[in-house]
Amino acid sequence: MSKKILLSGVKPTGRPHIGNYFGAMKQFVDLQNEYEAYVMIADYHALNLIQSKKEMEENILGVALDYLAIGLDPEKVTIFKQSDVSAHTELAWIFDTLTTMPYLMRAHAFKDAEAKNKDISVGTFNYPMLMAADILLYDADVVPVGQDQKQHIEITRDTAQKFNNTFGEVLKLPEHIILDEVAVVPGTDGQKMSKSYKNTIPLFATDDELEKAVMGIVTDSSAGIPINVYEMHKLFRSEEELKSLYREKEGKYKELKEALLTDIKAFITPLREKRAELEKDISYVTKMLEEGGLRANAVAGSKLSQIKKAIGVL
Ligand code: ADP
Ligand code: TRP
Repeated sequence: MSKKILLSGVKPTGRPHIGNYFGAMKQFVDLQNEYEAYVMIADYHALNLIQSKKEMEENILGVALDYLAIGLDPEKVTIFKQSDVSAHTELAWIFDTLTTMPYLMRAHAFKDAEAKNKDISVGTFNYPMLMAADILLYDADVVPVGQDQKQHIEITRDTAQKFNNTFGEVLKLPEHIILDEVAVVPGTDGQKMSKSYKNTIPLFATDDELEKAVMGIVTDSSAGIPINVYEMHKLFRSEEELKSLYREKEGKYKELKEALLTDIKAFITPLREKRAELEKDISYVTKMLEEGGLRANAVAGSKLSQIKKAIGVL
């Protein structure tokens, strides 16, 4: 029996944090044997935010290294750059013609940007159509993501449905995979961990950075338990172990932070070392991306032909 298909990706917008890892990236690794997996570097999505050649190049290579360092196996998973597969932007255009402006105006990301009175690019407004194309070109069954991407998967399903109703059953409706325990990983201030809130623990942080971040966790407490420290600690240890530790050290915030720091360091050190090792052979990484791009193009190209036939242009 053929495997079900997984597609996901992250934007190359800077260093990933443990929220990205536990919320999404870890699932790519955990599911890579069970699914036929496609994992993208969403560089055209990132272009809405990163408009510097040097930064873009560094970030793309960065995500490729991150993927390999956390354990994605390029023999099993097609790892590729979105921009290497022009079918994505082409299909996004087709979807643009089926989608209405009022529908896209209801998207959270657009509403948030609007609330902040930002000068919103057309690319930001259209973001969900490119993401729908990313997913639907591969007939993905599942899309592992964090909670904040849930609406994008719903939009993808709506778009597929609308296409199918108009042109016939061509597109497969995907499901999200969002794990409850890590759907929204909190940051050092207790809010959702996010690059834009400056409350992150970078996934490949140095020991110094880790110390600074952990010691800086805001210690709002309830019954002697520093909630933000505890919530983060849950990512690294079972609740059973934590309960006895936090009871034993009730009210001793510094010691509890030190215990968390030890656990985070034990988790991050080998990842950081693996990434440093991979960095020594960049040509291997670029070759892997090239090969992934070829594989992705073959799959997406044939789906796009099917789509173009269905709409009557081929
Ligand atoms: P950021 O909000 O830090 O810019 P991205 O938008 O690059 O993160 O998200 C990449 C992936 O990580 C997405 O699947 C997103 O849902 C997930 N993610 C981001 N932040 C968190 C978080 N705090 N908890 C769980 N998942 C997250
Ligand atoms: N929008 C996603 C994020 O901000 C990144 C992304 C782009 C993606 N295309 C995708 C995720 C397709 C899953 C599937 O994190």
